[in-house]
Amino acid sequence: MKNFRLFKTNDYEELSIQSARVFSGAVLSKPNGTFGFATGSTPEGMYKELVRLSNEGLVLFSGITAFNLDEYYPIAPSDEQSYSYFMAKKFFDLVGVPLSKRNIPGANNDPKIDCDLYEEKLASGDLIEMQILGIGTNGHIGFNEPSDTFPGRTHLVRLAESTIKSNAKFFKHPADVPKSAITMGVGTIMMAKRILLMVSGEAKAEILRDALTGPITPLVPASALQLHRNVTIVVDKAAAKYL
Ligand code: PGA
Repeated sequence: MKNFRLFKTNDYEELSIQSARVFSGAVLSKPNGTFGFATGSTPEGMYKELVRLSNEGLVLFSGITAFNLDEYYPIAPSDEQSYSYFMAKKFFDLVGVPLSKRNIPGANNDPKIDCDLYEEKLASGDLIEMQILGIGTNGHIGFNEPSDTFPGRTHLVRLAESTIKSNAKFFKHPADVPKSAITMGVGTIMMAKRILLMVSGEAKAEILRDALTGPITPLVPASALQLHRNVTIVVDKAAAKYL
């Protein structure tokens, strides 16, 4: 396997604590830096641990600028299923990231305009110091679903059926899962100086092996990470089954 920095942990709790250590280390070394955030069930435990570290005064998040990977489209930021709401309630509000420094791809205008604006905002600031990532069971990163090419920049995407199925767990009715989203492109993600990939559970074990050791192909979008020079991976035992 390529020269990733790999932390194997026993279970989800250890994975959350280890990921929080890696991420807070990056924030401590750049307290006014730009950081990339992700939603979903995998990073929830890490956010809890980061909130604890923040409450104890061990790491401050009030100076950072935040950019999120993706957001459903269309969805209102006040919608409880939106990633804006997730980030506010589970992290930003609790650690004091100012509203003006929270960036989530929005759908206020034409989605094309929103995507271009997001890229412009990203390009006008510092590079992302560390981008948090999960992986989908189909190998997606952000909402870059398997396809014929690696999508470069922030774009509107139609969600894969497997993603809609995976995310149905967060909704009352499976039919409520939005069918589209705005996501940073694989190229946008690859611009980050460092990447923190978190993977938990046996359901991700096979795709994780394919992404890290298989061919680099847009059919497994996470395989692009083999081309990045600074990826830290934190896995639990179940996800590391085939590594
Ligand atoms: P999950 O999603 O953390 O809810 O498994 C990860 C992803 O789809 O990137």
